Amino acid sequence: MYSAAAIFAFALLRSVRGQQIGTYTAEDHPVLTVQQCSAGGSCTTQSKSVVLDSNWRWLHSTTGYTNCYTGNQWDATLCPDVDTCTANCALDGADYSGTYGISTSGNALTLNFVTHGANTNVGSRVYLLDDENTYHLFNMKNQEFTFDVDVSNLPCGLNGALYFVQMDGDGGKARFPTNAAGAAYGTGYCDTQCPQDLKFIDGQANMLNWTGTSANSGTGFYGTCCNEMDVWEANSLSAAFTPHVCSGITGQTRCSGTACGEGDERYDGVCDKDGCDFNSWRMGDETFYGPSMTVDTTSKFSVVTQFLTSDNTTTGDLVEIRRIYVQNGQVIQNSATDFPGIAAYNSITDDFCNAQKTLFGDTNSFETRGGLAEMGDAFEAGMVLVMSIWDDYAVNMLWLDSDYPTDGDPCQPGISRGPCATTSGVPATVEAESGISVVYSNIKFGPIGSTFA
Ligand SMILES: *[C@@H]1O[C@H](CO)[C@@H](O)[C@H](O)[C@H]1NC(C)=O
Ligand SMILES: *[C@@H]1O[C@H](CO)[C@@H](O)[C@H](O)[C@H]1NC(C)=O
Repeated sequence: MYSAAAIFAFALLRSVRGQQIGTYTAEDHPVLTVQQCSAGGSCTTQSKSVVLDSNWRWLHSTTGYTNCYTGNQWDATLCPDVDTCTANCALDGADYSGTYGISTSGNALTLNFVTHGANTNVGSRVYLLDDENTYHLFNMKNQEFTFDVDVSNLPCGLNGALYFVQMDGDGGKARFPTNAAGAAYGTGYCDTQCPQDLKFIDGQANMLNWTGTSANSGTGFYGTCCNEMDVWEANSLSAAFTPHVCSGITGQTRCSGTACGEGDERYDGVCDKDGCDFNSWRMGDETFYGPSMTVDTTSKFSVVTQFLTSDNTTTGDLVEIRRIYVQNGQVIQNSATDFPGIAAYNSITDDFCNAQKTLFGDTNSFETRGGLAEMGDAFEAGMVLVMSIWDDYAVNMLWLDSDYPTDGDPCQPGISRGPCATTSGVPATVEAESGISVVYSNIKFGPIGSTFA
């Protein structure tokens, strides 16, 4: 994730399906099956579910229908101060398909980009649950994670993302007793952008100094930081996988001021916002990923990611992140970097990150915050699986699929990241298009070599 700007319209649905006090819509987590594999390749199917992030939900008075938050503003009566606001406001259940365009069928999760219900919803972010109140915690060290993805309906400017972040397994309920909702309502998000657009952080309303940034969102005084492993950020034109790490914090941590690393202080915060990305196009192979290319994005394919450790155990240091694709029964090795003066890397190692940053002239905030070993420590603590679809109000997703920065010379290594025009990806434009969606399916995880043939 390059930008924190996952912006959305909040639905104000007023159905009265729920029976519990303060609950107008029942929270029924869509069921999703995943497979746990063992060495040798036998896999068992597990029935899990997904939960929508709390930020998308209707936030209203605990005693009635009055909104605590409308458009990009907090209600002054319900929210005169943080403690009163936190006590007064309730998160409601979600109508997953009707309001948010989120549906599951067997092992497949579909996220529609724009949904016109009673209100218009843009984008979504869901987490994999183990049970109704607990996120599934993954340690991918010396393990492999595989999923199928259909990006054929994701144009320039869109990002269908599957990634891990070091959230609390219970959504922060135990650490922050004023958070009564927890993982069941998708609370506790954090990532390396230390996003400040969260309405609740550490069980408290983030209403101080709240400033509207679009019609439907804003940013507060605090941000929420943690380690992040972007397994997949992609549309049909470009794709990247990117570890990002933070230093000096353990797990989800609230930030303010310089620690959040906003604007000019990008490299002064606790987290590495750039990460160490492997994007085939950016690394010099412009014929590998895209419509009718080696990995053909006009149809579904499997994405395999292997997390190798120094001693081939789940406790050794993370030393390499490898990528393999499978499409139409064919195993496709990742593209290799293709620039003079740099070895032909096809995976992420600390050596690759250092060589890439040097070649591109980028600030190496990944290694200075601990590099792959730190990413591995986050996995050992347990990371939550996130699946999302979003557009980018900050820089139109140009960092993923176009020339970025836009005033850079696209002939210089590292500037060109994909074939999209520098004028593409404008939220107002992509949000007016219809039929944009992503499908994630067939999630499998287990020892190296166990999840694909
Ligand atoms: C909010 O903004 C004001 C003035 O802009 C500042 O004095 C204050 O310290 C900020 N922070 C909080 C937590 O209110
Ligand atoms: C780890 O496994 C790889 C491949 O299976 C092997 O080449 C390597 O020597 C092993 N490393 C250790 C420290 O056992």
